[in-house]
Amino acid sequence: MTETPDLFGAVKLGALTLPNRIVMAPMTRSRAPGNVPNALMAEYYTQRASAGLIVTEGTAPAANGRGYSDIPGLYNEAQVEGWRAIAQAVHAKGGHIFAQLMHVGRIAVPEHQDGLEPVGPSAIAAKGQMYTAGGMKDLPTPRALTEAEIEQMIESYAQAARNAVAAGLDGVEIHGANGYLPGQFLAPNANQRTDKWGGSGENRARFLLAITEAAAKAIGAERVGVRLSPGNPFNDINDPDVEGTYTPVIQGLSGKGLAYVHFLDAKPAFDVIGLARKHFGGPIILNAGYDKARAQADIASGRGDLIAFGSSYISNPDLVERLKQDAPLAAPDQATFYGGGAKGYTDYPKLAA
Ligand SMILES: Cc1cc2nc3c(=O)[nH]c(=O)nc-3n(C[C@H](O)[C@H](O)[C@H](O)COP(=O)(O)O)c2cc1C
Repeated sequence: MTETPDLFGAVKLGALTLPNRIVMAPMTRSRAPGNVPNALMAEYYTQRASAGLIVTEGTAPAANGRGYSDIPGLYNEAQVEGWRAIAQAVHAKGGHIFAQLMHVGRIAVPEHQDGLEPVGPSAIAAKGQMYTAGGMKDLPTPRALTEAEIEQMIESYAQAARNAVAAGLDGVEIHGANGYLPGQFLAPNANQRTDKWGGSGENRARFLLAITEAAAKAIGAERVGVRLSPGNPFNDINDPDVEGTYTPVIQGLSGKGLAYVHFLDAKPAFDVIGLARKHFGGPIILNAGYDKARAQADIASGRGDLIAFGSSYISNPDLVERLKQDAPLAAPDQATFYGGGAKGYTDYPKLAA
């Protein structure tokens, strides 16, 4: 590139050319009763289609990976049809959209997944609770996946990726962040397996790398991104050696032609973003707590290539325009983050024309 990159300038991501470097971060909104994407969700995403890239809310690649109430999936025909309508509507507005594949693993209660038992790398419960219709519940001890089930799970990710493309979505983001199933495999306190899926950093990275490779083989590496949160303790993750865990992750993701790697709040003791910059070979998305000035600075310095905005996208459907004009940003209402209908979802206004 000859010009200094700019937040509001075009950027290549996989086979796509995005109109700007602003990404809508993946956000669970729990508004998909029956786990099927619907017309209200289509309206919500379409309102935000001026983002360079939308990454959808966490979307289950398998029925036992739903965990929270009313999150969408990508494992049956009705879900594919629901996403098809969303992809069409976003594309009609000139937008681009990747589905985030989120298998929650042990962060689940059976009543949110039709009674299906939560699974994880090991039978170790996360310390924490989940909100349910019957009040807060302790997270249960998951059943440890067998090796045969791990192979099936890898195929579920590949099939969900195929389903995403069949629905007309532009690609998938593998959710390796925040202590969900791939993050549970990465973490020594959640993964105490003694087979090839646990133990050394290389072994703990194997599941994340296998699902990424399977998805890339299924739909093309340029349609597959990966989200990571090195050093982040969210969902009872405790990793005393972040460098030992994430060095094989970055090495394994590098040079494969993947669409991007997306870092959430990476503040570990070692410079994982610098390591990715050196080896990964594709676009890097940075997230958490960004405003316009910091976004522009990190893009201009080459630390990242795109910036993802989360909560500000909830309350500012025209975030790109507002940032461009230095217009004030509306504050999101946390009471309506999860569940409910249009209130706090599709009723945040754009700037007056
Ligand atoms: C309501 C809500 C739901 C979220 N759901 C997800 C999710 O499904 N997947 C994910 O990777 N991150 C999720 N996040 C994290 C956001 O993607 C993002 O990392 C976070 O909001 C920090 O970015 P920000 O400082 O711009 O808000 C969620 C955040 C919020 C506020």
